[in-house]
Amino acid sequence: YRNLRVALLGAGSVGSQVARLLLEQGDEFASRVGARLELVGIAVRDVDAPRDVDLPRELFTTDASSLILGADIVVELMGGVEPARGYVLEALNSGADVITANKALLATHGPELFEAAEQVGAQLYYEAAVAGAIPIIRPLRDSLAGDTVTRILGIVNGTTNFILDRMDTHGETLADALAIATARGYAEADPTADIGGYDAAQKAAILASLAFHTTVPLERVYREGITAVTREQVDAAREAGAVIKLLAICERLTDPETGEEGVSARVYPALISREHPLAAVRGAHNAVFVQAAAAGDLMFYGAGAGGVETASAVLGDVVSAARRHVVGGPGVAESTHAGLPVLDIGRVVTRY
Ligand code: NDP
Ligand code: HSE
Repeated sequence: YRNLRVALLGAGSVGSQVARLLLEQGDEFASRVGARLELVGIAVRDVDAPRDVDLPRELFTTDASSLILGADIVVELMGGVEPARGYVLEALNSGADVITANKALLATHGPELFEAAEQVGAQLYYEAAVAGAIPIIRPLRDSLAGDTVTRILGIVNGTTNFILDRMDTHGETLADALAIATARGYAEADPTADIGGYDAAQKAAILASLAFHTTVPLERVYREGITAVTREQVDAAREAGAVIKLLAICERLTDPETGEEGVSARVYPALISREHPLAAVRGAHNAVFVQAAAAGDLMFYGAGAGGVETASAVLGDVVSAARRHVVGGPGVAESTHAGLPVLDIGRVVTRY
């Protein structure tokens, strides 16, 4: 196999799991991709900080720029706008493909980054930036590109869904539930981003831009968080057969006064009936309900936050980027893997 050099920026909740899986499953990735993915280093702020995962000490550095130089694929999992933006631009300008889970960066500087990638023929992948492990970027960008998406209703922030769920089912306060979500690695480094609705608004801007083939600037997304939601309101909703969920709503609309067609993106705590499919989304799970003219209703559901879950989406992008390096084009090579043996086990009784 030829070697592809992978540089990782960040080894927190998500980055440490990405590093672990790259190291543990190197042979598997090599046979899937047709190239060996060599993790050449991990840039962090403090090389001696305790980590969730035991990773080789010699991989760590505080010099992200040197790491980026010479990498084929750069994975940005630092979070925040700066210095992440500078490093992503350095990587793209050097011709590397970049994978990021950073919705704050994409929602504020997306066009600049995509243009930088286009200038040099590099790719910027971001499946993990919206709804953690759930595949939603590729379905909207590729699978639904021939349809007309009319509306998206999403629970796209795992931390706030976890908090609202715990307030509803355990009678916990927002602060207590947030402490658990933070300990489990769901929350942003500054959890104001979660409870203030900023993270969901960033994701709404990304989803609406993709779904409606336009650019929805973050400042045009209406936003309310969950900080004003009280236990009394949660209880009252339950008694009325409803539940409070932080919803991201992206719609094609016609202005009733001017007749002008446009799109709207908004995030706020909404009352939904307990019978609605989104009411069944518990804990840190997310769901994205998409309505399209031809396809009708589609629902994407799964883990919306968490280190190892999000690592799945990041590594999917790493494999796509690596395949692109091997075969060229958009990274759609079929697996070269010899595959697991097929078992002749006939009909088995399975309970779901
Ligand atoms: P963490 O805060 O857990 O980890 C951030 C990592 O980046 C740390 O290793 C930190 O280093 C490093 N880092 C931060 N700033 C710098 C800097 N200036 N220079 C070098 N290294 C730096 O973040 P997460 O893993 O939770 O999230 C990473 C990204 O993934 C974010 O964009 C987040 O929004 C996104 N995301 C997170 C999900 C989750 O469930 N956690 C889900 C989906 C997306 P050090 O360890 O030394 O402090
Ligand atoms: N803090 C985010 C959340 C991480 O809770 O949804 C996933 O983007």
